[in-house]
Amino acid sequence: MTGGSELPATAALADEEATEALGAAIAVHLRPGDLVLLEGPLGAGKTTLVRGLVAALGGDPAEVCSPTFVLLETYEAASSAIRRLHHADLYRLRGQAAAPWDEVGLGDALDDPDAVTAVEWPESWSWAGSADRRVLRVRLAHAGDGRLADLAWIEA
Ligand SMILES: Nc1ncnc2c1ncn2[C@@H]1O[C@H](COP(=O)(O)OP(=O)(O)O)[C@@H](O)[C@H]1O
Ligand SMILES: [Mg+2]
Repeated sequence: MTGGSELPATAALADEEATEALGAAIAVHLRPGDLVLLEGPLGAGKTTLVRGLVAALGGDPAEVCSPTFVLLETYEAASSAIRRLHHADLYRLRGQAAAPWDEVGLGDALDDPDAVTAVEWPESWSWAGSADRRVLRVRLAHAGDGRLADLAWIEA
C-alpha cells in the first residue's frame, strides 16, 4: 500500500497499527470534498482508521475519539489541500430513517470545500444523491483477533 498505488479492494489488518496504516493509505487518495463511509460493527476499527487518516493529513491523532456525545467533531489538518476532517459517528441515530440529520451538522460538513468528511454508522443516513462527490465506502469486520477491510469507491 504505497503512496502512488491504487487502494486495495481488501486488506487484512492484523492489529491496531495496521488499521491506522490503512487510514494513512486512504488519506493519500483523498481530495477535498470526499466522503468516507465507515461501516462495520462496534469495535471493528472505524475510529482507529480515522485516527490514521488524521495523522496522515497532518492533524493530531490524539484528538480523535468516538464523537458519541457531539456526533460530529472537526479536526484541523495541516495537509496542503485538505484543511479539515469532519468526523461523525451516527451510532445513536442508527436505524432511524427520519433522524434529525440536519442537527448533526453533516450538511455543513459536506458543504465545506476544503474538508474531507468521514462518517461512522452511515447506513441510515440518506447521503446518497445528496451531492455530486466522490464516496469511498470502507467496510470493516472482525476476523479472528484482527480485522478485515473492504474498500470501494461508490456512486453517490
Ligand atoms: N486490526 C485490528 N486488530 C485488532 N484490534 C484492532 C484493530 N483495529 C482496531 N483495533 C482495536 O479495536 C478496538 C475498537 O476500535 P474502534 O476503532 O474504537 O472501533 P469502532 O470505532 O469501529 O467501534 C480498539 O481497541 C482498537 O485498538
Ligand atoms: Mg467508533
